[in-house]
Amino acid sequence: EIKACLFDLDGVIVDTARFHYIAWKELANDLGFDLSEEQNEQLKGISRMESLEIILSLGGITLSEEDKLERAAKKNVRYLELCQQMTPDDTLPGVRAFLEELEKASIGIGLGSASKNAKVILERIDMLSYFETLVDGNRVTKGKPDPQVFNLGAADLQVNPADCVVFEDAVAGVQSAKAAGMFAVGIGDRAVLTEADIVVPGFANFGLEDLQQQFKQTGT
Ligand code: BG6
Ligand code: MG
Repeated sequence: EIKACLFDLDGVIVDTARFHYIAWKELANDLGFDLSEEQNEQLKGISRMESLEIILSLGGITLSEEDKLERAAKKNVRYLELCQQMTPDDTLPGVRAFLEELEKASIGIGLGSASKNAKVILERIDMLSYFETLVDGNRVTKGKPDPQVFNLGAADLQVNPADCVVFEDAVAGVQSAKAAGMFAVGIGDRAVLTEADIVVPGFANFGLEDLQQQFKQTGT
C-alpha cells in the first residue's frame, strides 16, 4: 500500500537541469573545453562537488582544492542567477495536481534531492508547502546512488520503504530508490532509466489512480 511519495527535485518537480547545464558548460569553457548534453546526462542527481570532479576528469584537468571550491561557488552563483527567471509556471506539467491528489488521499510527501538549493527553488516556484519533509544536499552525507537520501525521507515520514514510491529522472536516483527497497517511477526515457519499475514521460497524463494500479501490478 502506498503510504508516501518521495520526489527528486531537479527534472521531476521543475526543469532546472537546463540551468545546471548552462552553468557547468560555462565553467568548462572557462577551463578551455566544452561539455556536451550527453556528458551532462551523467551529472544528473550527482552532488555539486562530485559533478565538478566528473567534469574535470572529462576535460583532463587537475585543480587545487581551493580552486575547485572557488569554481564550484562561482558556478552556483551563476546557477542561482539563471534560476531567478523561474516562476510558479515553471513547475513541470501535472506536478501540482498530482501533489494535490496525494494530499487528499493522505499520502505522505517528501523531497529527496542532492541539491543544496532545494528549499530556495521550491520557494521560488511556490511548492514548498506541499512537502512534509525535505531531505536535500545539506543533509545527506552519501549521495545517490546510495539509498541514504530516500531512507531518511521514509524515516521522517515514518513509513516502511516497501510503502514508498520514488519519482526520479536520473539513473543514479533510480538506483538509489531501488537500493532503498522502494518502488521507482522513472520520469523520462525508458531506454535511459532501465532500472525503474515503470517509466512515464511526466505527470501530465499520470494520476494517483494510474500509480496505484501500476504499484499493485508491478510492485511486491
Ligand atoms: C541534483 C541535480 O538534483 O542536484 C544536479 O540533478 C546538481 O545536476 C545537484 O548538480 C546538486 O545541486 P546544487 O543545487 O546543490 O548545486
Ligand atoms: Mg533529478
